Order: sequence, then structure tokens, then C-alpha cells
Amino acid sequence: MRISNRAKRLQWSPIRKLIPYADKAKSEGVRVYHLNIGQPDIKTPPEVLLALKEFKTNVISYGPSQGIPELREAISNYLGKYGLDVEPDEVVITNGGSEALLFTFSIVADDEDEIIVPEPFYTNYNGIAQILGVNLVPITTKAEEGFHLPPIEEFERAFSKKTRAVLLCSPNNPTGTILSEEEMKKVIDFIVKKGIFLITDEVYREFTFDGRKHVSALKFKEALDQIIVVDSVSKRFSMCGARIGSIYAKNREIITEGIKFAQARLCPPTVEQHLAIAAYGLPMEYFDGVKREYQRRRDVVWNALKGKEGIVLQKPEGAFYTVVKLPVNDSEEFSKWLLTDYRSKGETVMVAPAGGFYATPGRGKNEVRIAYVLEAEKLKRAMNMLLEALEIYPGRTS
Ligand SMILES: Cc1ncc(COP(=O)(O)O)c(C=O)c1O
Repeated sequence: MRISNRAKRLQWSPIRKLIPYADKAKSEGVRVYHLNIGQPDIKTPPEVLLALKEFKTNVISYGPSQGIPELREAISNYLGKYGLDVEPDEVVITNGGSEALLFTFSIVADDEDEIIVPEPFYTNYNGIAQILGVNLVPITTKAEEGFHLPPIEEFERAFSKKTRAVLLCSPNNPTGTILSEEEMKKVIDFIVKKGIFLITDEVYREFTFDGRKHVSALKFKEALDQIIVVDSVSKRFSMCGARIGSIYAKNREIITEGIKFAQARLCPPTVEQHLAIAAYGLPMEYFDGVKREYQRRRDVVWNALKGKEGIVLQKPEGAFYTVVKLPVNDSEEFSKWLLTDYRSKGETVMVAPAGGFYATPGRGKNEVRIAYVLEAEKLKRAMNMLLEALEIYPGRTS
């Protein structure tokens, strides 16, 4: 018997791999403030919970592989409110954005093909690429430059005969950066010139701060055939456990292939699709309060950490994450130490070491990702603990 190389090469998620240490701390009565995972404490909208309560059936049956038509229509209507023209037939419902990514990578790339992606990036891009044997070719973005895209020459340098797509995420997890229209246009021109796909992960579309606007790739008519959007209800409606995501593309071949993958796993969850219909039926004003709340939390983190000695961070522009450079020798050791050794009045804080958000080995070694998913008071307490912990951490570098 032998375990596959595919299994062996698959990484542990940096967001989850320190959880055993957190569990141990909790079993000893320590309260852990979780800033490691993008699990918002914002309440799922009551309309969605009502749909759950009112869902009546005698048999929880399979649904269509592509997803139930009412949900695809609801997504089409929702996108229409942003001026984006996506027909219900151009949508495939998936088990979360995670499966949307798995299908999309599978559709565009074969073994050892390459996808260019700015790093740091959502860590599970690594996991999915490793499962499939697809290579992510990173373009490094820097905290000092607000994690915005470097000149397009970097993309040219990363391009090879095996490049099949560029992958962008805006608003970004883990950096909180929102790509400007000019940045998007540069990448659009690049993928048009090279004849490759652009995968855009738009799961944080609504979470934009200080009056910024999200620019969807689908706005660029000259590249419509080449664009695949990955989406999800998880964060948008604070319903991460519902596991409903989607792919949409104007290129019908992508949808046809997507349906084949969808058939291979039968269908997305039936009950949750009904909840997602209720979510997508919410008025757009729903997002105003949620966005305000995240911006308030962003300000808490920014005000607590900005200008502190040895700490580098940029003011996040959207989503609910930030990557912070810390004066520590190894951010994974530091994150572990927070759980095993650091205590403040019986409490500690958990963050995600940023190494796993990079494809380039060794990068992110002194960075952590903070997900500001707790309410302001808890977040203030967590920031105070983080700063206090840095003062006494034995591996502090400056
Ligand atoms: C950028 C990004 N894409 C996709 C996902 C996948 O989300 P889900 O599978 O919950 O829809 C996440 C989750 O954190 C994410 O941050």
C-alpha cells in the first residue's frame, strides 16, 4: 500500500493548522480571540434564517447539477444591479467558492500547466493547485506598496508556454487591497494579448472602504470570452456554513465543461440553495450596514498597529483582512507561541502565519494575516494583546 504523492504534497491550511494548539489552550480554560479565520460574527440575515425555518419538503432530493434555476436567476438579477449582464444559463452553482475554484482551475489547466497569481494570495489556491498538479507562478506584491500590482513586465516575465490563466482576487484576501480600474485594464490587455484566461475571485465584492468601488472583470467587454468569475455567498451574507458558491462566464464552453464537473459530484446542497435565493433577494442597502461595520473594524486594527515600531502594514482598502509585517524571526513560531505560552488575564489571540499565503518559499516568514472578524471592543482587546505579546516575545528581532 502506498499513499499518493498528490496527498503528500498537499499543504496543511495555515489558517487551520494551529487549531490543535488553540483547542488545547481552550481546554485549559483560556479564551482565544480568533483572528486567524475569515469567519465573520456578523449575523446571517433574518430573511435567510426564515427561509431555513420555512423550508418544507418530504424528501430532501438531489437538484440539477448546474444548480437550481431560481438561484441562478437570483444571481443574474443581483449582478444586473451592478450593470453586469450574466444570464442564468451562464452560472454554475458550486459547493462554496472553494469548489468553484477547483472546477475553474480544472477547466483551464492540465497537469503542470501554470496559473500566474499575485502573492500573497488566498492560501487555498495553493491547496487546490497542489491537488490538481497545477503550478501557481507567483508575482510578489509588497506591503510597502499596499500590495498593488507591480508593472505588467512582471507578468511578462512570469509568462511561459504553459501559462493558461491569470488569477486575481479583489478585494483581496489576505491583503485587503482593491485593484483599480487601471490595474485591471493592464491585466485585461495582457490576457487578451496572450490569449489566456483571467480568473477573478470576487467573493468580497461588496466590502470596499472609503468610497472605493469594486471593478468587476466582466466590465471589460473586449475580454468577455476569457473571463471566469468565482463567487460565493459565504462572506457576502455571512453564511459560510451554507457552502454555496458559483462560477459565471460568458464563454459557454466554460459553462458546458463546468456542468460536466458538476455532474461528477451530482449537485450542490438543495436546502442551502433555497437559503441563497433568499439572500440574493435582499435589497442592496443590506450591504451598507455590513460595510460600515467592517470599515469600523478596519479602523480599529489600523489605529492600533500603524506607526508601531517594527510593524509594517497598509491601510486595508476592502475585504476584512490585512497582512502585517512583525518584528519576529518566524511568524509561525510566534503564532504558535501566542497559543502555547502567551496569556493575558486568561486570554490570548490567534492569527494566521502568512507563509502559506505565498507560493515563493520563504516569503511571509515575518508576516501574519489578521482577519478582523470580531466586533470592535473584542478587536481592541485582541490588538492590545498582540502588541503586548510582541513586547515580550523571545524571538523579537527589533
Ligand atoms: C478569496 C476567497 N476565495 C474563495 C473562498 C472560498 O470560500 P467558500 O468556499 O466559503 O465560498 C474564500 C474563503 O475564505 C476566500 O477568502
